[in-house]
Amino acid sequence: MGYNGSYLGPTLRVHRGDDVTVTVSNNLSADTTVHWHGLLVPGELDGSPHQTISPGETWRPTLPIRQPAATLFYHSHAHGQTAEQVYAGLAGLLFVTDEEEQGLGLPSDYGVDDLPILIQDRQFVDGRLVLPAGMMVALDGRRGNVILVNGAYNPRADVPRSLVRLRLVNGSNARTYDLSFSDGRAFYWIGTEGGLLEKSVELQSLPLASGQRAEILVDFSDGRPVSLVSAPDQSTLRMHGMSMMHRHEASENNAGNETVLTFSPRLASSKRGSTTLPLLLASRAVPDPATVVARRRLVLNMRLGGMMDSDEEPLTINHRRFDMDRIDEEVELGAVEIWKVSGQKMAHPFHIHGVHFDVLSRDGEEPDLLDQGPRDTIVVDEPVELLIRFDQPASKAPFLFHCHILEHEDEGMMG
Ligand code: C2O
Ligand code: CU
Ligand code: CU
Repeated sequence: MGYNGSYLGPTLRVHRGDDVTVTVSNNLSADTTVHWHGLLVPGELDGSPHQTISPGETWRPTLPIRQPAATLFYHSHAHGQTAEQVYAGLAGLLFVTDEEEQGLGLPSDYGVDDLPILIQDRQFVDGRLVLPAGMMVALDGRRGNVILVNGAYNPRADVPRSLVRLRLVNGSNARTYDLSFSDGRAFYWIGTEGGLLEKSVELQSLPLASGQRAEILVDFSDGRPVSLVSAPDQSTLRMHGMSMMHRHEASENNAGNETVLTFSPRLASSKRGSTTLPLLLASRAVPDPATVVARRRLVLNMRLGGMMDSDEEPLTINHRRFDMDRIDEEVELGAVEIWKVSGQKMAHPFHIHGVHFDVLSRDGEEPDLLDQGPRDTIVVDEPVELLIRFDQPASKAPFLFHCHILEHEDEGMMG
């Protein structure tokens, strides 16, 4: 499946201040939706199961773009079918640009020094994409033996010998990547799901869970070929204290890393190509915790016995399975709240629609270095406290919150 083609879809680049009308015609034989993950728009434009597009129908939302520059993505959010439709190819990239970001001199030549990198693991048998099924798939999520970038197998990118901006999007159903470079080189983390950081952070590795995005700058001015690699997946279900490790056939080097994407810095660097990093990126008003009007507690429940025992739902939030017709949490428009979210049995990437939030604490302590910035999807392994301001109206259709392991979401770990 794909948008305007066979697998995935076009990159949509939109500018802050614009009103963008998108025409979505459903030529599938199944219901679908298109959710703009990370876009701050009212509930009825969000593309959740409450905006289902039936086969043969057309949906034409006009999206007001009123948020800072960021790397977002769009994907199917069909009721109970999100995991299968995304796996089959219904996902694509969406960027927001704005004047502040364009004034920073960051690499922004699309496809040259500003590269979209949508990472997905997929299962191939005899060269054919197969859809894994079964009880373990519902619990652990669909995981694959091959890593694709923008739908390509064994991908390679020719890049200029300069600083290059990578817009990393984890479009996998369940897998977490732990990304680094094959020669151990450092890179600069400049943006999260919600936009640019205040200052860049020098890193040697960066984890990315399903639904998360990050922008990084990498210096290729030495001209040496290098690969973006990932450490083996540690995010899987823990049973009897052990993580269910998965094996992948993608080329492995001696550190056990899998290659994600190989870079050849063979293009002459363009006139605009730079090797200097801006010092300050973005400033942003974080809500004052003193203005918090409500605190809520969410537990992402996972019961392994639940698959066998029919009166116990295996995947819920606060013991309730997602219901299209039930409102689980009611929030006042404009309110600032703290949500304390914890999980069970494995690390769950927790996502909230219609907001960007800040991490206030992790496991009762200061948040990690990697928790900083405006977020919309955060890994809940230890309990986290999220500071959230709800600025988008949901008077005509509700927003969702859920685990971004898409199989967990489809099976009810959503509200
Ligand atoms: Cu990326 Cu509710 O989804
Ligand atoms: Cu979303
Ligand atoms: Cu989960």
